[in-house]
Amino acid sequence: MRLLASRMAVMTGEGALSVYARAKELEREGRSIIHLELGEPDFHPSASVNDALKRAVDDGKDRYCAVAGVLPLREAIASYLHDTRNLEVTADNLVIAPGCKIALFMAMMALIDPGDEVLYPDPGFPGYSSITLGLGGVPVPFELSERNYFQPDPEQIAAKISPRTKILIANSPGNPTGTVYTDKVQRRLADLAVKHDLLVLSDEIYARVIYGGQYVSLMHYPGMEERTLIIDGFSKSFAMTGWRLGYTVAPPRIVPALNMLAVNSYTCVAEFSQYAAIEALKDREGTTPRMVHEFTKRREQFIRDLNRVPGFRCSPPDGAFYAWVNISDTGMGAEELCRILLEEAGVAAIPGAAFGDAGTDFIRFSFASSTATLQGAVERILRVSTSWQGTVATR
Ligand SMILES: Cc1ncc(COP(=O)(O)O)c(C=O)c1O
Repeated sequence: MRLLASRMAVMTGEGALSVYARAKELEREGRSIIHLELGEPDFHPSASVNDALKRAVDDGKDRYCAVAGVLPLREAIASYLHDTRNLEVTADNLVIAPGCKIALFMAMMALIDPGDEVLYPDPGFPGYSSITLGLGGVPVPFELSERNYFQPDPEQIAAKISPRTKILIANSPGNPTGTVYTDKVQRRLADLAVKHDLLVLSDEIYARVIYGGQYVSLMHYPGMEERTLIIDGFSKSFAMTGWRLGYTVAPPRIVPALNMLAVNSYTCVAEFSQYAAIEALKDREGTTPRMVHEFTKRREQFIRDLNRVPGFRCSPPDGAFYAWVNISDTGMGAEELCRILLEEAGVAAIPGAAFGDAGTDFIRFSFASSTATLQGAVERILRVSTSWQGTVATR
């Protein structure tokens, strides 16, 4: 008997989660590990969010509820997107999901037929190619290159569009590079999407974590409202990773398909956490700006310190909370370097190839940890850097 469906042979895991598993194993052996592998803010929701959760449970909001998500939450998200992104969407455009990844998965399941081509950023979130493959689609990477400041190159993307291209995935600010797409790039992407009648999956999970400027959604550009699906949620912007709360903003012609998939899978998202999420959106204590302010300080310090490590080179990201470090000057491969960092220095980081072929010469650190932890990590890295110092290429 063939046990597993063939899609299981083409889907891939996530580098962050496998590094995390090995780091945990080392910790069980008594080793001290600094975890910079997971993209998880070291903040927690404010007291008012926790109170709202308790209140919702006490009020009996622990039943099956609306498949698309409870109306007050969908209304609150619509108004939040108006206030923070100047978007004109309504509750009817929204489907709540248990996490952004499920929102992404469902959106892709609703749209991709076998053979459909999906353009996605490389380096990029591993799910983009894995889910595409699992659905029988064809992932077509477009490169975010260092010499282009990790911005998508619309000309390169245009050259990759074929009659089978159905979806363009955008991720600004991006994981792992932290790039916030420029207005010029977004305008060109929107032009391409309209010209070739593409759907756009705009993964905006880091939209609130930017270091200056006003965030502009791809949905905002001419002709994009009817072809853009925004994926967003509470994991990063509200430091609620474990709450598993995400959502899709979709054009009316697509919403019923997302609801159909919800009916056939998760039914609805926990009612009490949806009510608590409404409180998170109000952000009465200013949790999100405070967190971003703190990340701003860490970003400056950590990027400066990492650049002191022989053979490391990185620029401050425009958004998200990752340092994306070019390590080619160390003369070592990223896998081997990350192995040394974890096994010898006790610092967990991810080899860049986990984010695609264009990430081969890079490693990713999350700087969503305290300043002292980040300083400690760099000290440890400097100590083991003796093993590659002799081979550092001159810049
Ligand atoms: C770009 C991007 N999209 C989606 C996700 C998934 O988010 P969630 O934890 O809400 O499922 C992540 C998580 O790291 C991410 O970086």
